[in-house]
Amino acid sequence: MKLCMIGTGYVGLVSGTCFADIGNQVYCVDKDVSKINKLNLGISPIYEPGLNELIKKNYTANRLIFTTDLKKAVNSSDIIFICVGTPTKKGSLKVDLSYVYKSIKEIISSTKNKKIIVTKSTVPVGTGDEIEKIIKKLKRKNFEIISNPEFLREGDAIRDFRYPDRIVIGSNNKKIFKKMRTLYTPLISKGAKFFTTSRRGAELIKYASNAFLATKITFINEISNLCEKTEVNVEDISLGIGSDNRIGSRFLRAGPAYGGSCFPKDTKGLVSIAEKNKINLSIVKSVIKSNQNRVNLHTKRIHKIIGSNVRNKKIAFLGVTFKPNTDDMRDSTSLKMIPYLCKKGAKVSYYDPSGKKKEFSKIKNCKYENDIKNNCKNADLIILLTEWDEFKTIDFKKINKNKNLRIYDLRNLYNLDQMKDKKMKYYSVGRPDIN
Ligand SMILES: NC(=O)c1ccc[n+]([C@@H]2O[C@H](COP(=O)([O-])OP(=O)(O)OC[C@H]3O[C@@H](n4cnc5c(N)ncnc54)[C@H](O)[C@@H]3O)[C@@H](O)[C@H]2O)c1
Repeated sequence: MKLCMIGTGYVGLVSGTCFADIGNQVYCVDKDVSKINKLNLGISPIYEPGLNELIKKNYTANRLIFTTDLKKAVNSSDIIFICVGTPTKKGSLKVDLSYVYKSIKEIISSTKNKKIIVTKSTVPVGTGDEIEKIIKKLKRKNFEIISNPEFLREGDAIRDFRYPDRIVIGSNNKKIFKKMRTLYTPLISKGAKFFTTSRRGAELIKYASNAFLATKITFINEISNLCEKTEVNVEDISLGIGSDNRIGSRFLRAGPAYGGSCFPKDTKGLVSIAEKNKINLSIVKSVIKSNQNRVNLHTKRIHKIIGSNVRNKKIAFLGVTFKPNTDDMRDSTSLKMIPYLCKKGAKVSYYDPSGKKKEFSKIKNCKYENDIKNNCKNADLIILLTEWDEFKTIDFKKINKNKNLRIYDLRNLYNLDQMKDKKMKYYSVGRPDIN
């Protein structure tokens, strides 16, 4: 099929490349000229394992076209996917749909032909209806608006696209399901569940799904607070409750606040959608509050570990992205923790395998180090914030001779017994301290 992705970010680029890889011709459009220029030079503007190779393969095979020419891309395609951002509006919980509506208007004014427009962006329930109103107002008829929310996770995005648990298609026109099933046949034949529902249903599934996952993370994070007070290992709790099939073991790892480009904005978005409909989603509201408060608990813990006065203390961060295998910094705990510690006079350094060098360059007392060793060598405290694979086997004794070195592991990456054997002063989340 001939497809067009409007927005070549984390979702548009990965899904566009993967659609090309299963034999479709895909136009990836972005208004950001530098992104498109990079892509045409064979360089991915985002860090996602395996993506560069897949882009090169499909670009060379002429199945993948990167362009800023939306009109040409739309007219060359049968199905157009909206993959633009839907951030939170500044100073509110509401979803900013301006990028979606702008791209819809651009599509409509670009073509006179019949097109299927699919919202892959996460949009509030009823957005498809609003888009139809816009089209009607412009006295146009030949567009079919459907919803196909995306569930891929950064860092595992290619695998998630190829082997999704389910593909959700929401449409009020049942004839469309057949066409979308054909598009997704290569994934369905490998076991993906093809689930059809109303357009509103599909829109709401995405928000409900993200809010549920955020709730699960927040629940185990709060339980980990209790574990710290009661000298219980939260990993035992995760295993003990996660072995119950009704609960399931995933998303039960205690750690820092959830971050990234989706959970924070989608939980807020869902609350605002509910409020608009005069529904009180009290659970989701509590989740948002608890998550926002989590960074304060971590900073309190840091003071407990190295004292209330952190002036001139050397603190090294391992990882600053919100999760491993991505360069995405949106709503990462590091964005709050690093400025806080620098303001208190600590000398902060950081290293991240994604190469996020410039993120904190404007902050006094903060510097990027090129590798793990340089970053950790003189530190008083090492904070492990993101569980990149290359951090798993660090020999802290070898790279840091400071007898008072303390390690605060926010991802429970290291084995407690091994840390005890090595006589490390080691603090983690919801597990007994070693000091
Ligand atoms: N990032 C994820 O892991 C993820 C997962 C599932 C769903 N989503 C949803 O997918 C949507 C996109 O998220 P993302 O992370 O890919 O965003 P992103 O910010 O990485 O990418 C959006 C892209 O759209 C481009 N754009 C905006 N308006 C445009 C226009 N009119 N024409 C052409 N290009 C335009 C921007 O320049 C940008 O490159 C959001 O609604 C998000 O909630 C994201």
